[in-house]
Amino acid sequence: MTNIIWGGRFKKELDPRVMHFNASLAFDKVLFAHDITGSQAHAKMLARQGLISNPEADLICNGLEVIKQELEKGLLEFDESSEDIHMFVEQLLVSRIGDVGKKLHTGRSRNDQVALDLRLYSRDAGTDIKKLLHDFNEVLGELACVHAQDKIPGYTHLQQAQPIYLGHFFSAYQAMFHRDLGRLHDWHTRMNFSPLGAGALAGSTLPLDREWVAQTLGFNGIIENTLDAVSDRDFVIEFCSVASIIMMHLSRLAEDLILWATQEFGFITLDDAFATGSSLMPNKKNPDVLELVRGKSGRVFGHLMGILTVMKGLPLAYNKDMQEDKECLFDTVNTLVACLEIMTPFLRSVQFNTQLMEQKANSGYLNATAILESLVLKGVPFRDAHHQVGEWVQTAIDKNCSLDEVIKNKL
Ligand code: ARG
Repeated sequence: MTNIIWGGRFKKELDPRVMHFNASLAFDKVLFAHDITGSQAHAKMLARQGLISNPEADLICNGLEVIKQELEKGLLEFDESSEDIHMFVEQLLVSRIGDVGKKLHTGRSRNDQVALDLRLYSRDAGTDIKKLLHDFNEVLGELACVHAQDKIPGYTHLQQAQPIYLGHFFSAYQAMFHRDLGRLHDWHTRMNFSPLGAGALAGSTLPLDREWVAQTLGFNGIIENTLDAVSDRDFVIEFCSVASIIMMHLSRLAEDLILWATQEFGFITLDDAFATGSSLMPNKKNPDVLELVRGKSGRVFGHLMGILTVMKGLPLAYNKDMQEDKECLFDTVNTLVACLEIMTPFLRSVQFNTQLMEQKANSGYLNATAILESLVLKGVPFRDAHHQVGEWVQTAIDKNCSLDEVIKNKL
């Protein structure tokens, strides 16, 4: 018999190489607080159902609370031989409170436990991200107001197209991030159901109260089907998908601002505190923050593909492949949080060179479409008006003068 938790039917110790390969503690340790919150609710439910006594539940809950506080303060070392955060916490509890600790896992499997922990973790992460996104969108809203009347060239194909207002540009991004907030909200509504009580895959013969645990942990209800409860990672995929869309929006904004910061555009000046220099070229001022935001979108998209690929071939119910869901999710959360945390102060620090923007919007032939439409209002068929204005533009180019000069006396 071995010392390992499933040692009853095993005659040999686990090969240390397998132990290391199998272990997830190095990354799933970030789940410790959520794991403990879930276990405390589970222990209380066991007591309510008469499966353990009230003093036993108290001993377990208090023991877990102390462990949580010590982990929060960094007083404990994570020991990889525990394999994952769930076994680590349980083994620590047993080493402290003795045999009563062995009752905690009654009616539970790590399969429903990890599904619960990951939902609690992502629910909190979603709440934090919503707040950060909301703050970022407020800055966009402020900029949209401040620059409501500042004219800039608008582009299609990155060629000057029609004049717009800088405020209009910021409102566009504000609308995108507003939709992203909606996506996070929808995701939360869909994911906020509790898997606990599904056991390994088939529930339990014990009289568990799944609804009570769900309610206690702030869920809207339980995941009815136990196979679905332990094998569903849609909430991770959907989160990574929403995060990818947010990163795509951030990346587009970063790209616009990188262009605007070039000497060729000169539309914005980067604050010295938010730009970097070159180790070689003394003249350089680089938009590293924006480039990193644009670049980090790649890894978030990669995580979405990663988790989709992990899940696509898995038979029901739980498979160890699903341990690969965590690093995708954690890195997606960390990357998105880091990008939003830097982009909010970054945007506040940018100086907008509105005079130059206006000058560019007034030169070129950006008023051509408006002139065309004034002809249409006078009854000229659209295609004829288009042709006529096109000729005037060509004349202006040939004479190197403005469109207004070409058409004066002609309208
Ligand atoms: N560390 C595992 C994971 O992240 C926990 C669940 C393990 N379950 C099992 N039956 N081996 O998925």
